[in-house]
Amino acid sequence: MILGQIVVGEVKTKLYICFVLVKTIKFVSLFFVLAFFASCDNDGKSIFKPNRIEPPSIQDKGKSLYKENVGRSSWQQPELVMNKMGDIDGKVIADIGAGTGFFVLRMAYKNAKVIAIDIDPVMVNYIEAFKENLPAEIQSNISTRLAEENDPKLKDGEVDKVIIINTVSYINKLQDYLAILKKGIKSEGFIMILDYKSKIIDIPAPPLDDRVSIGKLQMYLANAGYKNIIVDDTSLEYQYIVTAEVE
Ligand SMILES: C[S@@+](CC[C@H](N)C(=O)[O-])C[C@H]1O[C@@H](n2cnc3c(N)ncnc32)[C@H](O)[C@@H]1O
Repeated sequence: MILGQIVVGEVKTKLYICFVLVKTIKFVSLFFVLAFFASCDNDGKSIFKPNRIEPPSIQDKGKSLYKENVGRSSWQQPELVMNKMGDIDGKVIADIGAGTGFFVLRMAYKNAKVIAIDIDPVMVNYIEAFKENLPAEIQSNISTRLAEENDPKLKDGEVDKVIIINTVSYINKLQDYLAILKKGIKSEGFIMILDYKSKIIDIPAPPLDDRVSIGKLQMYLANAGYKNIIVDDTSLEYQYIVTAEVE
């Protein structure tokens, strides 16, 4: 009798454990399913959406070169910046001083054919490495190119558009550089330069003395032969956006 009660007790306990296990598995599965859909677009396709990507920080490249900081998207507003580039679908775009690829990735996900150009092999290798983890169709939108300080290594008329972001202050002889760059842009092509305003700002940025003022940039672009130079120094609090065209 007592033995019978013990056996029934054990069976009950096991059944109870099974019940708890099944409930837990259901709950965990539901969590992952919800997490998956939360990371998808409305159409359920993309789980790696560009505006959710913050490339890892490169904290110290020596000198005052740069520090990418957390929260960059809040002050640089990549979607706004991307809109300023106009139609980039299928367009060949050179990102001069591509660094860790903050914009490379975003443009590639909008189906631009991006040439990520940098003078630092570490940066080029970095982009090549993260590229390997991307879907094949995105990988095919990205190529890298090791350039030289005074030569972006573009073929004549190779690209539709050029962007230079957070980089002009590192380019010596900027006017000459812009003139060389212009040869690589197709006629009716476009350049966009985005950099730090010459004022005290509370985000990591090159020293004031090293920054390129909007006025100087306008002058360099004009002297280098660019047309229709447009300055936007109001959309972003810390940075200006200058665009120009190639005839
Ligand atoms: C501050 S980072 C900006 C990276 C990227 N544009 C971004 O917004 O995240 C500057 C990058 O420009 C590169 N650079 C500096 N001088 C250059 C030049 N003359 N030509 C091409 N790249 C250059 C550096 O190696 C570095 O990766």
